[in-house]
Amino acid sequence: MSERMTKGSVIAQYLPERVTPVGETIAPVFAPSNIALCKYWGKRDVELNLPINSSLSISLAHLGTQTRLSVSDEDAVWLNGEKVAAQDKFARKVIAFIDLFRGPQGSPVKVETDNNIPTAAGLASSASGFAALMLAIDGFYGLKLDPQCLSAFARMGSGSASRSLYTGFVEWQMGVREDGMDSIALPLDSHWDALRIGLVKVSVAEKAVDSRSGMNRTVETAHLYQSWPLQAAADLERLHQAIADKNFTQLGETAEQNALSMHATMIAAWPPLLYWQPGSVAAMHRIWQARAEGVEVYFTMDAGPNLKLLFTAEAEAAVKHYFPDMEVIAPFG
Ligand code: DP6
Repeated sequence: MSERMTKGSVIAQYLPERVTPVGETIAPVFAPSNIALCKYWGKRDVELNLPINSSLSISLAHLGTQTRLSVSDEDAVWLNGEKVAAQDKFARKVIAFIDLFRGPQGSPVKVETDNNIPTAAGLASSASGFAALMLAIDGFYGLKLDPQCLSAFARMGSGSASRSLYTGFVEWQMGVREDGMDSIALPLDSHWDALRIGLVKVSVAEKAVDSRSGMNRTVETAHLYQSWPLQAAADLERLHQAIADKNFTQLGETAEQNALSMHATMIAAWPPLLYWQPGSVAAMHRIWQARAEGVEVYFTMDAGPNLKLLFTAEAEAAVKHYFPDMEVIAPFG
């Protein structure tokens, strides 16, 4: 029987013998946040973050994370201009990820990371955070990793981070290899300038169950989860077709149904996971009302109470009528 692979054992095969900084510091690197239209939900390998299904996302252009690494006399993590306590969960996660590359005996680093994602929008930052950190590690230690390694290693930080290395539409292919080196994201060669994403904030309170624990609980306890991989595979095909044909109705319908199917599996978990707040349900009804009144708008949601609306530039004014406070993003600039 093969020995169980760890993040460290997979990464070590691609690193030079000695990993040392190539200079005092690097220019800050940026990675965009992303929103999945076909969700990543469930892992076949929890250690390596290998997914049960392939997923497809759209990156949020200039919204994301910027990160810089510098030589320092102690490990220190700064977030949005403030030093984070060393024992803080965030700081420990960042340093543990750097340890995978420099080793626990590696020289200390200062990590400066800034999110320009409006905190009020309640968007996750772990995807752009680990993607930017991966790029910063690559630059700081002069690793010159190829795109496959960058995506596979960012994925070990957080699954959705594998998709945050690119702009536009990105597909994360689930892969079949045990070491996960084929479980990587690739950009789609398609633009859709008229596409818009609206961020609708319902609550920014920290959720009780993070997406990592939520997806593991769903896989372990929800019988309904058995239908998810099939649904996701079919949705992925439909999204590819919708993007190729610029068929917005098909894109929106597929993304909304995919998100609601994922949430159905969470509700069927035990203990149940219902990330929705009353305000989330009210917003869904408003969207369905808008559609009934002829405004083409759809939504997607992740493991949280906030909604991401999908519409085209043409419908923006009409959608704003229903959601005057939403923030609008043009993912293709
Ligand atoms: C619902 O990538 O945060 O947003 O791999 O455990 O770090 P880990 O999970 P994470 O999960 C994201 C789940 C999702 C769907 C998606 O973005 O595809």
